[in-house]
Amino acid sequence: MKQTYNQRLRDKQLEDRIVSEETAASWIEDGMTLGLSGFTRAGDAKAVPSALVEKAKEEHLKVNVYTGASLGSDIDRLMAEAGIVHKRLPFQADKTMRSEINQGDMLFVDQHLSHTAEAIRQDILNPIDYAIVEAVSITKDGMIVPSTSVGNSSIFAEKAKNVIVELNLAQSDAFEGLHDIYELGAQGKRQPIPLTEVDDRIGTIGIQVDIEKIKGIVITNQPDSPSTIVPPDEDTATMANHLIGFLRKEVEVGRLPENLAPLQSGIGSVANAVFHGLLDSEFTELEVYSEVLQDAVFDLLDAGKIKFASGCSITLSEDKLEEVYGNIDRYRDRLLLRPQEISNHPEIIRRLGLISINTPLEVDIYGNVNSTHVLGTKMMNGIGGSGDFTRNSRLAIFVTKSIAKNGDISSVVPFVSHVDHTEHDVDVLVTEQGYADLRGLAPKERVPVIIENCAHPTYREQLYAYYEEAWEKGGQTPHVLEKAFAWHTRFKETGSMKAAALQHS
Ligand code: COA
Repeated sequence: MKQTYNQRLRDKQLEDRIVSEETAASWIEDGMTLGLSGFTRAGDAKAVPSALVEKAKEEHLKVNVYTGASLGSDIDRLMAEAGIVHKRLPFQADKTMRSEINQGDMLFVDQHLSHTAEAIRQDILNPIDYAIVEAVSITKDGMIVPSTSVGNSSIFAEKAKNVIVELNLAQSDAFEGLHDIYELGAQGKRQPIPLTEVDDRIGTIGIQVDIEKIKGIVITNQPDSPSTIVPPDEDTATMANHLIGFLRKEVEVGRLPENLAPLQSGIGSVANAVFHGLLDSEFTELEVYSEVLQDAVFDLLDAGKIKFASGCSITLSEDKLEEVYGNIDRYRDRLLLRPQEISNHPEIIRRLGLISINTPLEVDIYGNVNSTHVLGTKMMNGIGGSGDFTRNSRLAIFVTKSIAKNGDISSVVPFVSHVDHTEHDVDVLVTEQGYADLRGLAPKERVPVIIENCAHPTYREQLYAYYEEAWEKGGQTPHVLEKAFAWHTRFKETGSMKAAALQHS
């Protein structure tokens, strides 16, 4: 062990800063703000947050917690259970934390993932007292080399008053060289980001910080926790086929090249399964410019279908995690991890002309999308990067099953109960029923296209009935305002969105 950490901590003047996680946690006081590494369960600071939870058993402690996205290793759950989080941003995906937020016991800022760094630069958020960042190594000249995610680690380390590094020996040091850290600088004084190809390297392999700010180094040995995605099923395979059919047509008419455009895919089982469908397609020489790289990206890399993948985090299921991390060298020339404000930057998304594929909770008959709020009020996970990509991509696609909860919820509703992506930003909707190409369609033209191609047959008549009544009232985007959320209230009252006549079907 000593030998290994010797090789990984190469700036020898930092050796005397090695401390235990308990000592590091003892520096953190009530009311402080922490910037933790970690993005969709990858590369999270593990030991110090756990020690903090233990410390909170002895004394009152409430802190603000900023991260890249969701944390693994149960850290979000443990912090939520211990009640130590005052305010959390910009994303979470933990059941216990979600309940704390929805019960009003914790404040949550649901933020576009590319915005957090800008908010920190502009001093909109509380100053960060401690950045706690996982690393695979510290170079001879003091650069912190992140592990399986970059997330917001570079901006946290740059702006924090103090930095604690968790040097994790369980993470392969072969990750060194796979990161590309680029700092944008202040708004108004910036140059264009010099990234014109998915595989362009524009920065450094690690995070350069003022060495004096590194207050402690904690040696850890704990692997990332695996993702919780479930394997593709019949419905998601059908959705993938519809999506591929749409993309094929775009190639045929010359709007897309044969290897498509750089692809982004959101988090979760559905997005992963849809990407998985590309394995059996004719498409090859693909490029990925995404934030999270899930199992399917590595299946496609292994199959030689993807020539390069750029992301800000790698999130894998249990089996895949061992296979990929044990052979990370295999991907050395085809993989880069960047800060999340670069992976999600509007300038690059628009320049590269991305095809974005994200998953909503519900969509409405005009194409508005709700990605975050169950029944309009309860937080699910957060908007994540879906807004960064959707607003700026060449083709903004949303894929979802047409029903949820055994058919008691329709994913196509008269009016979404919360709007994350407006009808102006949404190009194509895909469900297992088919796809709706909304580009160039006025709201009234969209309605039959969405109902016929995307809604589940059980709900089609009900949707038409609503629209006919709305149409009578007129307007650019007709609604019966007093009934617009009747489906949601019916679900709350009866456990189903189905109209009374259909309740037992
Ligand atoms: N109302 C209530 N619940 C719904 C629902 C709706 N309209 N649609 C789906 N759900 C439930 C499902 O039943 C499932 O519940 P369960 O966990 O109790 O089984 C849960 O939501 C997840 O749905 P699932 O179909 O398994 O999809 P997923 O794993 O692909 O996740 C999102 C879907 C929307 C939760 C997820 O994609 C997300 O958080 N998106 C927002 C952030 C984002 O888009 N990031 C992309 C850039 S990285």
